[in-house]
Amino acid sequence: MIEKNLFESNRAAWNQAAVYHQRAFNRSLHIGFQDPKFSTLKKERNYVVNERLKQIDFSGKTISHIPCNNGRELLSLMRLGAKEGVGFDISDAAISEAEELAEIAKANVRFVRTNALEIDETYNSYFDFIYISQGSLQWFPNLNDYFSVISRLLKKDGKIIIFEIHPFKYFFENGFSFQAQNFEQLTSYFKTSPNNYPKGLDYFGNVEYESNECFWFMHKMSEVIAAILHNGIEIEDFDEYPFDLDGTPNKEVEGKFPFSYLITAKKK
Ligand SMILES: C[S@@+](CC[C@H](N)C(=O)[O-])C[C@H]1O[C@@H](n2cnc3c(N)ncnc32)[C@H](O)[C@@H]1O
Repeated sequence: MIEKNLFESNRAAWNQAAVYHQRAFNRSLHIGFQDPKFSTLKKERNYVVNERLKQIDFSGKTISHIPCNNGRELLSLMRLGAKEGVGFDISDAAISEAEELAEIAKANVRFVRTNALEIDETYNSYFDFIYISQGSLQWFPNLNDYFSVISRLLKKDGKIIIFEIHPFKYFFENGFSFQAQNFEQLTSYFKTSPNNYPKGLDYFGNVEYESNECFWFMHKMSEVIAAILHNGIEIEDFDEYPFDLDGTPNKEVEGKFPFSYLITAKKK
């Protein structure tokens, strides 16, 4: 598949998903960000990332979130004291919502609609900190391409936190369930061809709809680690957790698989 088409399909699918996400949030973010203490990072399962964030001094720092979706996580991070933020995302609808929320939050941030792989060179060596959160890496066919951009944008000694869905969780993304024993639906850990979400991307409202075609990729843990290391970024810490970040029920195996992981790293 020509990659340009893949990214344009994903852009259309994420624009379509934004309508469902906004319905699920029911303007709670617009109301929430009016309160200077409001932060979506306060959600219970973010405690592991909050522990790491506490160890970083954000004052005077320039930070980013890639991809940033509707900006809620970057706006929450800004409340830790950073000087300036820039969020990047491919979805037109997510970026326009992020701009609305930034105005409400009165934050010194801007949001840029772009394929993350094509972020402008004016942002080279621009950031002290980049956050990468759940459901991000799966949209990039080649993680080396993605982390070469992250490395290019970081200042020397700039930090990243990756708080991501574990590849083991993606075993279940194509409908596999231990209860149903439908092993033909189990996504191979080694699968390199793209997967789809035909029933949509509404992981907030859990509404199913006929999605515009979109393409996501299984990435092995070793692929994530190699792509970071091969791009001049030093891993400082790595841990795995048994919980689901998006609350999808996998009750049969809860507590038995790693479903999320956290990596802290630094540009050499
Ligand atoms: C699951 S969200 C991850 C962000 C955040 N954790 C969240 O849950 O809102 C995935 C985001 O990736 C964006 N995205 C997908 N492919 C992209 C690309 N090539 N460049 C930039 N953003 C992309 C989508 O538009 C979407 O906002």
